[in-house]
Amino acid sequence: PLITFVAHDGSAYEVEAATGSNLMQVALANGIDGILGECGGSCSCATCHCYLDEKDYARLEAPSRIEREMLDCVAEPHATSRLGCQVVVNAEMDGMVVHMPASQY
Ligand code: FES
Repeated sequence: PLITFVAHDGSAYEVEAATGSNLMQVALANGIDGILGECGGSCSCATCHCYLDEKDYARLEAPSRIEREMLDCVAEPHATSRLGCQVVVNAEMDGMVVHMPASQY
């Protein structure tokens, strides 16, 4: 699926994401700044924090308890905040837009 990553300054990067990878891995693999992934995807650093559009957020499975606890600690949580490493790409995500927080630059 094609996923668009939008930086805090509005620059957008559309990338082809591999099904089964997660949003943090997709960002790193494509050299996209704004998602750091310092813990390697073990849900313990929150440097892969991102914001989804409401419609995309709504069609994903709800975040796990551990992910919600990590999201409580991020700098600027939104209603549609997710940890990129906990969102696994599937074919239905074509067209998804992922916004990256200014605090990760
Ligand atoms: Fe550390 Fe996602 S990469 S919480």
